Amino acid sequence: MIALDVLVEEHRIILQVLEALESMVNKALEDDVLDTETAVLTIEFLRTFADHCHHSKEEETLFQVLKRRHLATDVIDLLEEQHREGRTYVHGMESALRQINQGKPGAIGDFADMAGNLISMLRRHIQQEDDGVFPMSQSSMEEGDRRGLWNRFLEIEAGAGSNRHTRGLALADEICRRTQTAEISRAALPNILKELIKD
Ligand SMILES: [Fe+2]
Ligand SMILES: [Fe+2]
Repeated sequence: MIALDVLVEEHRIILQVLEALESMVNKALEDDVLDTETAVLTIEFLRTFADHCHHSKEEETLFQVLKRRHLATDVIDLLEEQHREGRTYVHGMESALRQINQGKPGAIGDFADMAGNLISMLRRHIQQEDDGVFPMSQSSMEEGDRRGLWNRFLEIEAGAGSNRHTRGLALADEICRRTQTAEISRAALPNILKELIKD
């Protein structure tokens, strides 16, 4: 099902940026210096792609369909709570970054704590969706739901300018390059490349 496949492929991009963020944080703790330019790009990616593009599509479309069908409502509530928790961590990373720029002692440790919380929560969250909620959705939705979900995805992306995947992937590649993290495998993104990336 293409809408779910796109969400899974978006997870692959997000996971690779989390790996880059982890490497950035480890290096910052080792050297006591954070690469603040790359941290700014990472916060931008987490907001514009992981949250605005990915989490908002889950919340506005898939989770709504499941709630209407009274499927896994407790799990959906938990996943939505984790989306909110993630926004708090990104906000915390941004505050710590401001304090790093002002030379506040200990601010690198604060940034590392917030980033570490976000990394471990989002990895767990993505695993819960990939292994639990998405396969359950796949088997329990009807053909009309599936078509409706994909049409809604296309409307949402068109409303956002139809370029969020092009921009998100370019940003993710830049973050991976700067942190010497492996580049995102294009082989893992067949649906995004075919349907949502404009040359
Ligand atoms: Fe999610
Ligand atoms: Fe997700």
